[in-house]
Amino acid sequence: MCGVFGYTGKSVANDMVFQGLKRLEYRGYDSWGIAVNNDGKIQMFKDIGEIQEREGLKELPQTTTAIGHTRWATHGGVTVNNAHPHMATDDKFTLVQNGIVENFSQLKTKLEKLGYKFTTQTDTEVIVKLIEEQSKTTEDFEIAVKKAFKLLEGRNTIAILRINGDILAVRNGSPLVIGKGKDGIFLASDSLSFAPYTNDVVLLDDYDFVKISNGKLHIENVLTGKEKKIVVQKLKNTYTNIEKGKYEHFMIKEIVEQEKTIFNATEYTQTELKPLVQAIQEAHRVYVLGAGTAGFAAGQIAYFLRNIAKIDTQEVRSYEFNTYKNILKKDDLIIAVSQSGETADTIEVLEMAKKHGCKIASIVNMLGTTISRMSDFKYYTNAGPEICVASTKVFTAQCAWGYILAKTIVGELKEAKKNVTDLSNLLTKYFSEKTYSSIEKIAKVLKNKEHMFVLGKGENAYTALEGALKIKEISYKHIEGFAAGELKHGVIALVAKGTPVFGIISNDEDCKDLVSGMEQVRARGAMTIGIGDSKFSKLEVFDYFLVVPQVEEISNISNVIPFQLISYFLSKELGNNIDKPRNLAKSVTVK
Ligand code: M6R
Repeated sequence: MCGVFGYTGKSVANDMVFQGLKRLEYRGYDSWGIAVNNDGKIQMFKDIGEIQEREGLKELPQTTTAIGHTRWATHGGVTVNNAHPHMATDDKFTLVQNGIVENFSQLKTKLEKLGYKFTTQTDTEVIVKLIEEQSKTTEDFEIAVKKAFKLLEGRNTIAILRINGDILAVRNGSPLVIGKGKDGIFLASDSLSFAPYTNDVVLLDDYDFVKISNGKLHIENVLTGKEKKIVVQKLKNTYTNIEKGKYEHFMIKEIVEQEKTIFNATEYTQTELKPLVQAIQEAHRVYVLGAGTAGFAAGQIAYFLRNIAKIDTQEVRSYEFNTYKNILKKDDLIIAVSQSGETADTIEVLEMAKKHGCKIASIVNMLGTTISRMSDFKYYTNAGPEICVASTKVFTAQCAWGYILAKTIVGELKEAKKNVTDLSNLLTKYFSEKTYSSIEKIAKVLKNKEHMFVLGKGENAYTALEGALKIKEISYKHIEGFAAGELKHGVIALVAKGTPVFGIISNDEDCKDLVSGMEQVRARGAMTIGIGDSKFSKLEVFDYFLVVPQVEEISNISNVIPFQLISYFLSKELGNNIDKPRNLAKSVTVK
């Protein structure tokens, strides 16, 4: 979703911001813009589509202070006019925003009554005009910004470039972090975007007001006015080199990286896991939550906690957690699952759970992000940056972490580590030309199909949901995942001659039910594709079978990988934008 990037320092700010925006691209955007300050004048360039060198951009004067923005449209279409930054009527400042002004229509109506004319459809322009209105009541521009900001409802983070060269910003809900480099100060939606220059960061809290003026940084709380001590932290794993390497797309690179990342996520010791193990054992109930792929990882983690550790655990999609609020108790424990650590749906639950007095744990990929910072027990997947919008390596890393957590609870960490190591080794062999060509063959068959289904059961039920989501996200094909038991209760009505139905099968107590479900769809003409244990590869019920490396207890983790690969090769076949699928954002910071 929207990305904010600002820079002031000794380097050419235009270039720094342009590169910063490129590094924010992975979050998802549809338009972008850069504003520079030069000799008391602000000049801007905005465009829709991909961030790339343009004539107008080159014409901007080279300066030492600039801000930029990547927009993921919420209010108003994808047009140059709606792209950020948005200039004040008197050209004295320009503003970018990440978030949604939830009271946008009320504020706009009031401002219109006061005579303000709006030239865009964005909620951002309301903030600009609000600041102008507040400026009528005070000579101090910063006070006007703070007053205006307090009138906004929703999770909003703004950054402003003034004609005097100052950069101001206020954070609430949507992410913003400061980077302190040798030659300048950065302000951005994530630390990855300025990682080539510095890993010294200042983490911001909600309602922090930031002023960067003449190379100096000042932070205060916008509600209390209290100045905040600037604490510079060094981020451990800063990834300066975000390259595709020998791969054509980030997606395939990240899929292959799973041979290592599944292992990395489980590199925790008994001592490191102990505080969480204890909290789980003492909790009245454990909730595991997330959204999208992270929601399915939450389901898988809950499955491990229930079935291996015998803990009363409930998985919940973050955006539906409200339906549990009446039974939430202060001694319940929440485990939040997130790649970005900034998902608004999940953060909102954590805020509510904190008010209830619940303890919070999290498994997050991105360092120093909101969800980790809100957590009493923080764990990281250590999978490195995941650039493709569709999550692959982080999903399996989150599941693997959940597995070792569950095994630690029952005193079997050593066995868990062995299993994960075995799986990693098997995956190294699995990622081969032979595997790719068998997947490509299936992808070619699926190219002309419009509707598909995925069945899983028990340990593979969440694998089915995630497998279907992966294919949906990039190929834009209609595909639904189900727990196999659901089939006869309705889904089977949709199965017609030639409909592809995937069946995920492990050597477990549910394999017979899965086979029987596949028999039922085959009897109705479905094209059946088995995915899983080689033991079942010769069964007549499967028209095709993709063998997946199996390690007992965690075959549900590896069984998702063929879906990731099908998604990749199918989308390639269809000519889709693999790393940046349409309409999707990597970091979903609005509700
Ligand atoms: O950053 P998060 O893991 O919290 O994001 C949650 C979802 O938005 C995310 O998993 C989404 O479903 C991905 N596009 C999945 O590939």
